[in-house]
Amino acid sequence: MSTRLAVLASGRGSNLRALHEYLARDDRDTLAHIALVLSDHADAGALAFARSRDILSVAIDGGTLGGERLLAQLRSHRVDLVVLAGYMRLIPEIVVNAYRGRILNVHPALLPAFGGRGMYGSRVHAAVIAAGARVSGATVHFVDERYDHGAVIAQWPVPVLSGDTPQALAARVLRVEHALYPPAVLAVAQQRISLDESGRSTHMHLPKLDDSAFVLDSLDDAALRNAIGVALSD
Ligand code: GRF
Repeated sequence: MSTRLAVLASGRGSNLRALHEYLARDDRDTLAHIALVLSDHADAGALAFARSRDILSVAIDGGTLGGERLLAQLRSHRVDLVVLAGYMRLIPEIVVNAYRGRILNVHPALLPAFGGRGMYGSRVHAAVIAAGARVSGATVHFVDERYDHGAVIAQWPVPVLSGDTPQALAARVLRVEHALYPPAVLAVAQQRISLDESGRSTHMHLPKLDDSAFVLDSLDDAALRNAIGVALSD
């Protein structure tokens, strides 16, 4: 049975697109597929993308999207795994409890640094640059009751270059998100990675320090995806 994913997205939807393209390759959609895209913004790019690919999409105004309503949506569409992709709202406790270990998020920094309430979009990258950090990156993690707080599933570093603007750093990190998130989602969908009883991920994926994928500019998108895919299937 192919795992039924719901993607929750408030905005542009580039991670939704990357996930959809990844699952469309090599028959992976027999393992997992996007059964629902849900947004709290009717004009979200993610919804337009879903419609363009005939994926069932639902817009519910954020003001009326309480935990019970969200949970009812997930249940009525028989969702197995919830994938947050630029979703700006805290997941209500009732949903976290019902789907514990089955809700994932991607964050554009190396958590637990530069995460939490108010840390989204270019604010994250501006904070990284202001702190003088030399390394940022992308993090995939299980979702709990707090913003950007659950157990880490996978991380990948991205260099911060001198003279970086938040926009330049965001673009470098986003490229890695697109390569890192889809295989991490599939690994959880296939239960190759799960949340253990102590609340930690059974595996955490980090590149080896000498991994050439750290030198992003030397890799095209396919090579980057390949390097991260190899690390995730270790
Ligand atoms: C990404 O940077 C993601 O890490 C963060 O929100 C952004 C969403 O971008 N949680 P997109 O809508 O997937 O393009």
